[in-house]
Amino acid sequence: MVKRECNSATGASTHAEHGERVAAMFGRIAGWYDFLNHALSGCQDIYWRYRLAKAARPKPGETVLDLAAGTMDVSVELLRQYPECRVAALDFALPMLETGRDRKLKNGREEKIYPVQADGRNLPLPDECMGAATIAFGIRNILPREDAYKEFYRVLKPGARLCILEFGTGSKRVWKGLYNFYLDTLLPFIGDRISGDPGAYRYLAETIKTFPDERALAQEMVDAGFERVYHVPMMSGIVYLHVGEKPHAFDQD
Ligand SMILES: C[S@@+](CC[C@H](N)C(=O)[O-])C[C@H]1O[C@@H](n2cnc3c(N)ncnc32)[C@H](O)[C@@H]1O
Repeated sequence: MVKRECNSATGASTHAEHGERVAAMFGRIAGWYDFLNHALSGCQDIYWRYRLAKAARPKPGETVLDLAAGTMDVSVELLRQYPECRVAALDFALPMLETGRDRKLKNGREEKIYPVQADGRNLPLPDECMGAATIAFGIRNILPREDAYKEFYRVLKPGARLCILEFGTGSKRVWKGLYNFYLDTLLPFIGDRISGDPGAYRYLAETIKTFPDERALAQEMVDAGFERVYHVPMMSGIVYLHVGEKPHAFDQD
């Protein structure tokens, strides 16, 4: 496992503090994270990550960036779908990466998935080295998001895809308000009791409720320079898959 210093020269101090709080929070819930993901989504998260990886479409031999990789479920799914690729699994919460490494990096996966502790706003990667990039349930946590988009754009090869999996805004009523009740009441209640971090799943619910809707997120991708941007709703728009491409050099004028 490679450890990198988080050096966010671009973030204001409030963003840096936010980052430290988020990293510490995910560090505390790392052990329960996978179980709660599956339990709280009724195992739908497995399908969502399958769709995310399917959209990435790297070429054989290329490396895929899985940012905010956490316990590396997306990284593992990418390798399953693209066995001829490698995955750079970057996250700034070391306990999340360590939990994923101990549980999942075996049977040869450890040869092809490289966990690295790093901040998504300041990637320790050269320009145009990645054949695709994914981020599942991570972009919501990064402030400012523009810094992450800029870094995705910089490290992707021309023509490569950025694929984002994220909750839709929780401010819309879904399933006649049942989902909103779940978000406001059940999710924090269950999360608090199991995760060992009262507050972590309240934070999750809050960030979902205040997150921009799918159109605003698509616009952010366009503003960051991505083209052929589209989004696909899943589970009545509770979750969205967003896809965009870095333009080829001849498209960029
Ligand atoms: C909800 S988890 C998602 C983990 C994984 N992608 C998944 O699908 O389960 C969000 C992850 O984003 C990471 N994260 C948040 N902000 C980050 C940043 N600025 N740079 C790198 N990782 C970040 C957290 O440490 C956490 O592991």
